[in-house]
Amino acid sequence: MSKFIFLYCSFILLQMLLLFVVASEDDSNSEVKIEVVFMPSECNQKSKKGDLINVHYDGYLAEDGSQFYCSRSDKAGHPQWFVLGVGQVIKGLDVGMVDMCPGEKRKITVPSSLGFGEKGKAPVPPNATLVFEVELYSVSRGPRSMEAFQEIDLDKDKTLTKEEVKHYLKLEYERTGTPKDEPFYEKIMADIFRKSDHDSNGLITSKEYNVYEHDEL
Ligand SMILES: *[C@@H]1O[C@H](CO)[C@@H](O)[C@H](O)[C@H]1NC(C)=O
Repeated sequence: MSKFIFLYCSFILLQMLLLFVVASEDDSNSEVKIEVVFMPSECNQKSKKGDLINVHYDGYLAEDGSQFYCSRSDKAGHPQWFVLGVGQVIKGLDVGMVDMCPGEKRKITVPSSLGFGEKGKAPVPPNATLVFEVELYSVSRGPRSMEAFQEIDLDKDKTLTKEEVKHYLKLEYERTGTPKDEPFYEKIMADIFRKSDHDSNGLITSKEYNVYEHDEL
């Protein structure tokens, strides 16, 4: 009898153990893993959802370490601009780049479910775990807020011209102590217009600017 109970308990234990292993495996399969590779000594503004951030990132396949994306060689090598947390990049990066300081470097491991999924996207194969090496250059607070829009809109006509956007970028870079040359600003500006100027008329209206489509605009 006691032998039977022992066996039974062992069986339950084994099941619990298996459940635990399966559960924890599931967790690691659906979560982004963040390793801070470099942390600058000063950090006055951490990235948060809705911020306009400027980053370099290289993507590798976890499986064999091969590189599938390099922002340093793509699109003329200038750092990418995107609004954090609103789906302009894969979910894993939206999640993995929160609370990051300008100058910080991270290694972010992204499960396929938060990357390119079961289908993949060439050259990323199906079900691929991805590893990104990310360097954050700058964070602009709540760029899709009314305040930021008004700050960029120098002549207060409720549309942003290329000159106004470029002027703002220059100020941002000078403010963070990393001024760049003219072609650099030109490229970033072109990128911003490509993403935001939906009717391609060379102007970004407050409506085009606001990705959240708040009613206050
Ligand atoms: C990807 O993963 C899904 C779910 O685990 C599986 O059904 C599918 O067969 C996998 N695809 C490939 C190509 O391995």
